[in-house]
Amino acid sequence: MFNKQLIIGNLKPTFPVIQGGMGVGISLSSLAGHVAKCGGIGIISGAQIGYRDKDFIKDPLHANLVALKQEIKQAREIASNGIIGVNLMVAMKHYAEYVKAAVEAKIDLIISGAGLPLDLPKYTKDSDTKAVPIVSSAKAATIICKQWDRKYNFAPDAIIVEGPLAGGHLGFSAAHLENSPLLEDIILEVKEVVKEYSEKYNKSIPVIAAGGIYNGEDVAKMLEKGADGVQMATRFVTTHECDASLAFKEAYINSTEETIGIVKSPVGMPGRAILNTYITSPQGNKACFFDCLHKCGVTDIPYCISKALINAVTGDVDNALLFCGSNAYKATKLEYVEDIFNEIESALVIA
Ligand SMILES: Cc1cc2nc3c(=O)[nH]c(=O)nc-3n(C[C@H](O)[C@H](O)[C@H](O)COP(=O)(O)O)c2cc1C
Repeated sequence: MFNKQLIIGNLKPTFPVIQGGMGVGISLSSLAGHVAKCGGIGIISGAQIGYRDKDFIKDPLHANLVALKQEIKQAREIASNGIIGVNLMVAMKHYAEYVKAAVEAKIDLIISGAGLPLDLPKYTKDSDTKAVPIVSSAKAATIICKQWDRKYNFAPDAIIVEGPLAGGHLGFSAAHLENSPLLEDIILEVKEVVKEYSEKYNKSIPVIAAGGIYNGEDVAKMLEKGADGVQMATRFVTTHECDASLAFKEAYINSTEETIGIVKSPVGMPGRAILNTYITSPQGNKACFFDCLHKCGVTDIPYCISKALINAVTGDVDNALLFCGSNAYKATKLEYVEDIFNEIESALVIA
């Protein structure tokens, strides 16, 4: 349909657009299913996905595994034959169990960042599920490709490059964020890295750009600069279909460029969010509620990140961590997922 088609193995979405996984609970079956139905790739976030289960606090792992399978099933029902994936963060405890559950549910692809998914092919290699790491540098891409090649005789099915303008946790140190390279430059470097593995395994390895891509023009520009596809998250938050509470979506609509900033997360990485005093001046609530992440400083945390993200999705926005991309302030109203794809289609046809 467009002069550039995104192809990830046998997966051929109409649009070269992946909707970024957003936890906790922001991208579940409704958003992912509707994106897939419109011809993009819909991604369910696996982070604390069972947060609505009555036994979640008692047994989060069980609640999360049940919800993961349920959300995949529901997304498939909405999407009919559309492409559905899950985002599973390497930093999550029980990562391997979530990966195995998603493969068992025959998910089309697993996207993994927040750490290097060095052992992802162990679980996906003998299945139809595609393995897609998220990186923020050519160095990280090299480490992953080398390890997968050496240990699993396998190359990534695609690589997502998340640049400095993205939402959620960022793969750059706070100092490096100030003068980080441009996303398009990292894309070109990562394309160089994958060349060797693409030839060795005789497969194309699309390199996908993420972070700050908000409208049709941005998509066209990134494709023109060499990306094989884009991942967009922030733009999809202010849709009717997004799984978050209305209050979370309204926080985006009411945000301004000045109220969006970089926050320190208990996981030790910087993140981008709509600033509020709960995060910028935490009032000493240092309790860890869920013991969910490997690198979380549980004994000395400013706030429990899972709790702050659950408060966000459920609408308690004053006591929440409101992750967002640098362009969240551009949202002025709620829209339908289909409107976004219509806009992208116009931009790509013109380009
Ligand atoms: C609210 C929110 C939650 C996010 N949660 C996750 C997550 O759980 N795991 C992850 O790998 N990325 C997460 N991200 C990053 C997105 O998947 C995506 O790569 C990034 O936001 C792209 O930039 P954009 O938002 O400017 O389009 C999140 C982003 C947002 C805005």
